Amino acid sequence: MAYDRDLNFIYRNPTRLVYGENSINEVEQEIVSLKCSKAFLVTDKGVVNAGLAERVEKVLGKKLVGTFDGCIQDSDLRIINEVSGIAKSKGADVLVSVGGGSVIDTTKGIAIVLKEGGKIEDYKGQQCLSRPQTPHIVIPTTAGTGSEVTYFAVIKDQVNHQKHPYCDDNIIPNVGILDPTMTEGLPPMLTATTGMDAFSHALESMHATQCQPVADAMAISAIQLITEYLPKCVENGKDLFARGQQLLASTMAGIAFNNGQVAMVHALAHTVGGMFKVPHGLANSIFLPHVVRFNADVCGDRYTLIAKAMGLDMKDINDENSGEAVAAAITALTRKMGVPQKLSEVGVPEDSLAQVAENSLSDGAIVYNPKPVFDAEEVLGVIKQAW
Ligand SMILES: [Fe+2]
Repeated sequence: MAYDRDLNFIYRNPTRLVYGENSINEVEQEIVSLKCSKAFLVTDKGVVNAGLAERVEKVLGKKLVGTFDGCIQDSDLRIINEVSGIAKSKGADVLVSVGGGSVIDTTKGIAIVLKEGGKIEDYKGQQCLSRPQTPHIVIPTTAGTGSEVTYFAVIKDQVNHQKHPYCDDNIIPNVGILDPTMTEGLPPMLTATTGMDAFSHALESMHATQCQPVADAMAISAIQLITEYLPKCVENGKDLFARGQQLLASTMAGIAFNNGQVAMVHALAHTVGGMFKVPHGLANSIFLPHVVRFNADVCGDRYTLIAKAMGLDMKDINDENSGEAVAAAITALTRKMGVPQKLSEVGVPEDSLAQVAENSLSDGAIVYNPKPVFDAEEVLGVIKQAW
């Protein structure tokens, strides 16, 4: 699947990136550059307990007008509505999120309500906003979601247990501060699974139907870096060089899928995440090799590029067998890091597989799969392999 001759695409990447060890010290200057002065910090208890929120609070000094540290896994719309009110009462004019995907997505929601008023539910859907939202600086403490550069936020209605996508160019964060010292304390298994989320973003942006050359360049670099440095981060979390390379890879993979989209791996991961709370990166990691095999006959040339990026010996690899080579290399990579390999090991019951297949067909990511999927039976075959 080379690019079509009538290729046309839009590439978006408005986020200013500030990289380096201890680059959180730049946050105050970034606030000034945004012409803001009253920062409201959004985080969660895990980040607080790791001492990371305090580090940022200290740097913010007098510019800090308040902190909310009650974000929960899966961004919650009630929290967004409540915290927007608190931030407003403090006169906040810029939001600083410190955390992983759920914290960042919660803050994207707060940025909307703080600017537009009303409730977050009023802005559900695609490209509903007509102007830039409250300025938002992201300091990631995991290296996987890429949410610091994306136009998506997934927000959950915890009452009805429904997840709603919010997709809008106006919620792309203004600044991402990529400081490897902020990911240093992440435990090995979380490092591995969140890291594989980034790998999935890169790979999926390359096989998805919206793949495009500029995003591909980002994805190829991300795959190179993750294959080399993610196992090093897992082995020795204090290796700040490796942490930095993985953080860069995560952001580049985020830029890649913000443009090229994600596909069946994510549709399945979202589904088992919603049904059985399988962590997102772990679910992606399990599904990846099986989805690659499923798609191999329609995008062998894409997988040849990925095999090269993974540093495989290309002597016997061609477009016919590259899918199998990439699938096997992903399994070897995740095994080396001790990541579970099967759905049966992570709490997905065998009698639910048909329902997983059915539900995945209504996930938005499935439409970008390189091999069109309309039939739950086809997906079920992939899920059974992963089980
Ligand atoms: Fe993801």
